[in-house]
Amino acid sequence: MTTASRPEALRERALAALTAARARTAALTDPVSEPDLTAQHSPLMSPLVWDLAHIGNQEELWLLRNVAGQEFLRPDINSLYDAFEHPRSERPKLPLLGPREARRYAADVRGRVFDLLERTPLEGSGLLDDGFAFGMIAQHEQQHDETMLITHQLRRGAPVLSAPDPDPPLGPPPAAEVLVPGGPFTMGTSAEPWSLDNERPAHTRETAAFWIDTVPVTNAAYEAFIADGGYGERRWWAAEGWEQIRAHEIEAPLFWRREAGQWLRRRFGVTEPVPGDEPVLHVSWYEADAYARWAGRRLPSEEEWEKAARFDPASGRSTRYPWGDADPTPAHANLGQRHLRPARAGSYPAGASPLGVRQLIGDVWEWTSSDFLPYPGFRAFPYREYSEVFFGPGHKVLRGGSFAVDEVACRGTFRNWDLPVRRQIFSGFRTARDA
Ligand code: AVJ
Ligand code: FE
Repeated sequence: MTTASRPEALRERALAALTAARARTAALTDPVSEPDLTAQHSPLMSPLVWDLAHIGNQEELWLLRNVAGQEFLRPDINSLYDAFEHPRSERPKLPLLGPREARRYAADVRGRVFDLLERTPLEGSGLLDDGFAFGMIAQHEQQHDETMLITHQLRRGAPVLSAPDPDPPLGPPPAAEVLVPGGPFTMGTSAEPWSLDNERPAHTRETAAFWIDTVPVTNAAYEAFIADGGYGERRWWAAEGWEQIRAHEIEAPLFWRREAGQWLRRRFGVTEPVPGDEPVLHVSWYEADAYARWAGRRLPSEEEWEKAARFDPASGRSTRYPWGDADPTPAHANLGQRHLRPARAGSYPAGASPLGVRQLIGDVWEWTSSDFLPYPGFRAFPYREYSEVFFGPGHKVLRGGSFAVDEVACRGTFRNWDLPVRRQIFSGFRTARDA
């Protein structure tokens, strides 16, 4: 890219990212009836109509108000859509915009944002540097699209979404695990233009040598843990995990049910046998941790995960993705809700890391052993409530993204986090061991 064409290319990238996000938001809400848009399908989730207007409201706040200095279109609704003022469980009781109003509001904001994008130089420092604020808002919408897809998964009733099943090349089966060499590597980024504050800055980390699974843990492997009485043996479980599975009588991943000697699962309104060769999905951090202990292994730490995903032993460099610096294609990874499920374990040989670790990006979010903490030199940007207020031992880091993550919100440095009890998210894991 030449210097002269760079702002134009960024503008096009921002336009495409915002447009793709809105198309996905529409695909997640247009086929849903009005009562289902306003209902709460789980106390863990907002009504879909809240996400819809919240998407527009954050876009208005950051782009029209904070970048362009415009007055709010609807100052009266700002507090309704502030995630910190009202917990999810209370949102259905708020005087929210109805589906039609919410759609019109989000579309109105978007029209003004396109005008702004056309006439704003995407340079300088701060929010406009490399078009960051536009990229941040596209990522925000895509993150809520994944949240809305989780709401679809929790919703009871006839299916409203459909997608073709993944059928990527499997390639020759990889060895079960690979050895990642000890030593320093570069973690995090200072260069990725739309990276979020918690991914920054790039810094050197040391790891000891370790072994890591080449593919995520499968349903068949997880079933073996269940069949071996894993949920009934105290010794595999962290104390709070043991309490949670006792208190809620948890004995399998969320959405699983045992019938006539086989495991079935509900997936977006369809009940089907659990496919053994697919990465396990909808497990809590405690379940992942217990499985790993049962298997005589452990979860990888966050730095081990990132080293496995980004470190190229030949060059000593960390790349943007396991396969290098190129943006993802459908041959690399199962991303972007192209499918409504993970692909078989061992898929996407073209997306493997130099050491041969597959499916690090896409398919299932992978729990790591690590607490969500700031990198050395962290600076909250542009607001403390994106990352900083969540730092601490309460939240565990997930890496790599699921089939429900769009590529704009997924890269080797991207960090997600959640409470260790959560299992409605598209979470799985792989295991590791000391060398
Ligand atoms: C990064 C996925 C944990 O959904 O709570 C959305 C993303 N932040 N709106 C979340 C987010 C503000 C966030 N996660
Ligand atoms: Fe949000």
